[in-house]
Amino acid sequence: MKILVLGGGAREHAIVKALIRTGTPAENIVVAPGNAGIAGDVRCVAIDPNSPLETTKFALEHQIELAIIGPEAPLVAGVSDALRSEGIAVFGPSQLAAQLEGSKSFAKEVMAAADVPTGMARECTTIAEVESAIDDFGAPYVVKADGLAAGKGVIVTSDRKAAIAHAEKFIDGGILVEEFLAGEEVSLFFLSDGVNVMPLTPAQDFKRAFDNDQGPNTGGMGAYSPLPWLPAGFVEEVQRTVAEPTVGELSRLGSPFIGLLYCGLIVTERGIRVIEFNARFGDPETQVVLRRLTTPLAGLLYAAALGNLETAPEPQFTKEVAITVVLASEGYPETSAPSRPIHGLHHAAAIEGVEICHAATAQGPEHLMATGGRVLSVVAVGQDFAQARHRAYEAIGHIKLEGSHYRKDIAKKVAH
Ligand code: AMP
Ligand code: GLY
Repeated sequence: MKILVLGGGAREHAIVKALIRTGTPAENIVVAPGNAGIAGDVRCVAIDPNSPLETTKFALEHQIELAIIGPEAPLVAGVSDALRSEGIAVFGPSQLAAQLEGSKSFAKEVMAAADVPTGMARECTTIAEVESAIDDFGAPYVVKADGLAAGKGVIVTSDRKAAIAHAEKFIDGGILVEEFLAGEEVSLFFLSDGVNVMPLTPAQDFKRAFDNDQGPNTGGMGAYSPLPWLPAGFVEEVQRTVAEPTVGELSRLGSPFIGLLYCGLIVTERGIRVIEFNARFGDPETQVVLRRLTTPLAGLLYAAALGNLETAPEPQFTKEVAITVVLASEGYPETSAPSRPIHGLHHAAAIEGVEICHAATAQGPEHLMATGGRVLSVVAVGQDFAQARHRAYEAIGHIKLEGSHYRKDIAKKVAH
């Protein structure tokens, strides 16, 4: 089967590695646009993943049988609809269904209609409304941009002024003020064929920039899987109370969700609450979830794309644990650094159980260069978290990039 993967981050690199590890020949995979690391594993092509026209033309010319859409931007741009209308199997929801991620107010409406547990929230279109909402809910304040904001649209703060300043930045696209929910965060992915859902395995993402959950929210600085502290029956409960009703509601609305339903959850004292949906694989959670997958990934995604998920085998995962640590450029997420050389990757990748997924890298004339905020993910597996952490941190210690930073506490609390 010829597969086109759209995107060029560490998530897409992890998808490519998982496809190959679970049986897809590397020569059957092409990535647009990819990055310097992905190009080391499979062919990359310089087409715009956000262009319905370019991606469809390429897919038809190259007899692509399955398109896997990594990031949210192509979904929101309608790339899956364009590919599907040409008869190509697509793992990635339609533009309409992707509104589950693209519009937080739409997601809230779907959850309300489907009776899915989530935080109380108020939609605001003026700063006066935001002020009155945050005063009603009280501190800590949770202020969310309604539309896509690359992981930077949400602020959680007890500083009223900072909450208002954040709202001012995003007010034109609408603001959602939400009640603060306390508890552990869990990311749980479901494959969906529009009707049926199938869970993968839970992971935890580290959203804040610095150790001990300090600093601003980011796209994600690290992750681990599985989550040994989850109560028995957790996955089944999320499937029954969140994933199935949500997919059912979208189907009723005439926009079936075919792709990956990312459930961002908080386990509160009063039960599980959804804090966000995404319409695609999470980054960096995918690096750990797919690292543990042993079932052929291409078959699972193809079955979902064709609406045949009930015929697919249940996804299996190794007993090994996995952690990933993101290496970020100086100033991330607030400012961007100039392009700088990266050294020591070979050394890092040579460590047992370690794999490097590239995100913002490009091959320069002499050196591999870091070209963006989240530069790469170091992924390590182990018999337990102590071993996986040891491997990941030893590997990342070999990587030299001026000004770069990473969190030192990924999976720390589960490593004994
Ligand atoms: P989101 O983009 O909606 O996932 O929000 C980004 C991060 O903000 C989440 O991963 C949480 O850490 C935090 N967050 C979002 N909503 C809430 C909430 N209602 N209560 C507490 N923290 C939240
Ligand atoms: N890691 C969070 C996300 O992918 O949105």
